[in-house]
Amino acid sequence: MEAHPKTALKNDTLLRALARQPTEYTPIWLMRQAGRYLPEYNATRAKAGSFLKLAKTPALATEVTLQPLERFPLDAAILFSDILTVPDAMGLGLAFAEGEGPRFERPLRDEAEIRKLAAPDLSDLKYVFDAVREIRRALAGRVPLIGFSGSPFTLACYMIEGAGSDDWRTVKTMRHSRPDLLHAVLEVNTRAVSDYLNAQIDAGAQVVMVFDTWGGTLANEDYEPFSLAYCRRIFSAVTRVPRILFTKGGNPWLAAMMQSGCDAIGLDWTSDPREARRLSAGRVALQGNLDPVSLFAAPERVRDAARAVIDRFGTEPGHVFNLGHGIQPGTPIDSVEALVDEVRAYSRRLRAAAAA
Ligand code: CP3
Repeated sequence: MEAHPKTALKNDTLLRALARQPTEYTPIWLMRQAGRYLPEYNATRAKAGSFLKLAKTPALATEVTLQPLERFPLDAAILFSDILTVPDAMGLGLAFAEGEGPRFERPLRDEAEIRKLAAPDLSDLKYVFDAVREIRRALAGRVPLIGFSGSPFTLACYMIEGAGSDDWRTVKTMRHSRPDLLHAVLEVNTRAVSDYLNAQIDAGAQVVMVFDTWGGTLANEDYEPFSLAYCRRIFSAVTRVPRILFTKGGNPWLAAMMQSGCDAIGLDWTSDPREARRLSAGRVALQGNLDPVSLFAAPERVRDAARAVIDRFGTEPGHVFNLGHGIQPGTPIDSVEALVDEVRAYSRRLRAAAAA
């Protein structure tokens, strides 16, 4: 049996925007669109018992992936999973304590552990590829499915620090005292991420995104050697579908990111879309960049903010509307509804006016 049926896409607006082709409106999806702001997500998560159980059960991961699409006319689905499944499969022991962030039981702390580190056996991530296949079947061509991974550096942050951090001091101490060891971790992660993304594509992912959530915390001169150089290698190994690179806080390095071999750059809300358009000069697509916290304002103000973002990107091909980072728990659903509606309606009107 084929891994996924070759169902024709009913809505390929995202794919055309990523290819910088004209679209009838600006496509939109939201980082963390399946998450705790949705009561139905919280219900499925309660049924699963824990976030990890939810992510590791393909039928439940499929259910929550589709939930935001039932509420809002979004132009993409994103695989429900987590970036930390990869270090988990490397044997570091991932746990999510209730009300806290992720934690690894066996973080990488000494040279011997780092020398033993190896890319995971992909069969330990079979639940992810099974979820991709099941989501593709459930979508039946409604919208494309985005797969994803953490960047080698962002994964290394959690693997070395053992948990989230305000300043990543264990990682940065290693960067200065034993940069060779940090590079050894990044090397293994790069192979792991490349193989992982290719396996998601084999299973049916139609776009992939690399989340470099912590790349922006690096010193200016460290971003290229410790993060972007490894992302570049991923983009030369993963070539069959459009590839999006998102570095939170990446604004100082946009020009270099645009030359990393990816097809699109995710912008956080600190970037100026006009400047990003100028830098990209039509060579890569852009995704972003509404401040997710603006969704806590009343729906009418959210509509204003959505139009302001679209005005700054303009209607030339190659913009995918998104937030500048993940949607936060507690975000009012009315605001999300207003956002998706306004992006669709306003961007359609602007194109119609430009064509008239
Ligand atoms: O976008 C989507 O809808 C797909 C799902 C998705 C999740 N995590 C689900 C999740 C994606 C793309 C991620 C990626 C991820 N995970 C990143 C990179 C993206 C980013 O936000 O910058 C990072 C840094 C992680 C690591 C991670 N996972 C943290 C720090 C946390 C805890 C913080 C938090 O938000 O609670 C998670 C848990 C997590 N991953 C949740 C979800 C929906 C919340 C868990 C829960 O339900 O309790």
